[in-house]
Amino acid sequence: MKQYQVAVVGATGLVGRKMIQVLEERKFPVEKLRLFASAKSAGTTIVFNGKPVDVDKLTKESFKGIDIALFSAGGAISKEFAPHAVKAGALVIDNSSAFRMEQDVPLVVPEVNPQDILKHKGIIANPNCSTIQMVVALKPLHDRWKIKRIVVSTYQGITGAGKKAVDQLEGELAKRTNVEKKFPHPIAYNVLPQIDVFVDGGYTKEEVKMVNETKKIMGDDSIKVTATCVRVPVTGGHSESVNVEFEKPFSLLEVLDALGKAPGVAIQDDVAKSIYPMPIWSHEKDDVFVGRIRRDETIANGLNFWIVSDNLRKGAATNAVQIAEEWIKQFKI
Ligand SMILES: NC(=O)c1ccc[n+]([C@@H]2O[C@H](COP(=O)([O-])OP(=O)(O)OC[C@H]3O[C@@H](n4cnc5c(N)ncnc54)[C@H](OP(=O)(O)O)[C@@H]3O)[C@@H](O)[C@H]2O)c1
Repeated sequence: MKQYQVAVVGATGLVGRKMIQVLEERKFPVEKLRLFASAKSAGTTIVFNGKPVDVDKLTKESFKGIDIALFSAGGAISKEFAPHAVKAGALVIDNSSAFRMEQDVPLVVPEVNPQDILKHKGIIANPNCSTIQMVVALKPLHDRWKIKRIVVSTYQGITGAGKKAVDQLEGELAKRTNVEKKFPHPIAYNVLPQIDVFVDGGYTKEEVKMVNETKKIMGDDSIKVTATCVRVPVTGGHSESVNVEFEKPFSLLEVLDALGKAPGVAIQDDVAKSIYPMPIWSHEKDDVFVGRIRRDETIANGLNFWIVSDNLRKGAATNAVQIAEEWIKQFKI
């Protein structure tokens, strides 16, 4: 089997470190791993397959000989450096939102639209973490009953906002003074109905991402989506309350059957035993957990459910590595 030179950009971050872990766990065919971060991390090492790998400062020349570059250092770094990686011949799989809505950049969740990988011109975008887990659960339902409208409210964990966010929560919980702020308000013992910055119409960028990315990944602009994204003081794991209106009638048994057969979905739904998806059960798992499945009695063909997934895994690192695996499979490279 061919082996690949793989670069991780943002290797010292929450997502970058998880990518390195997932590459190792999934036995990705890595011939050589190169790790890049900012100047302040240069000279540190991260263990991969039992051996320390140096972290180097990212430069425009970092991509010589690289086959696959996994980017997770934020949108500005992706915008500046991804074109250099492509020019050097690498496939870029980008975790930031920099290229997601560009027409010639596929936005891929392998369980949903693996065929879009074929359209790439050097960059494939990894969707927003909240969107990934939602579309994994919705795709099998959309295929059967066609979704008219989605109303989603998220309860997103702290690790979704990077290292600084974790430091703020831990600092506040420990009652440390001089805690550096990632958020505009305290996050310990609090809930923030703001993720990312506000844009037109009173929505946040995260909410707009969920709307636009869902349509692009599902390949269906007719799906109406409205979202409210909320940060909660949970370490990791994003939860979502999802209300869906379908065009066609369904039975709950059929829904359970469709979700039960769907790749990447695990049902946790036994309310008599208080079993439903929770962030603490999702840690270090790749599944999208679905529960609290029930009819919305206020509309025809309405369904309510609750979705939870580990945002650093399926919401970021695992999805990115799965894209690379699918790319190898499709292009037989
Ligand atoms: N967290 C999630 O659940 C999640 C999910 C999906 C997508 N994403 C996206 O993934 C990206 C990273 O998120 P994260 O949570 O891992 O953030 P993070 O923990 O704050 O890590 C940021 C990483 O970027 C690196 N970096 C910063 N400035 C750099 C520079 N000038 N040159 C090279 N590297 C630089 C940092 O290196 P130093 O350590 O040297 O500063 C670090 O490795 C973001 O675009 C985020 O939107 C995150």
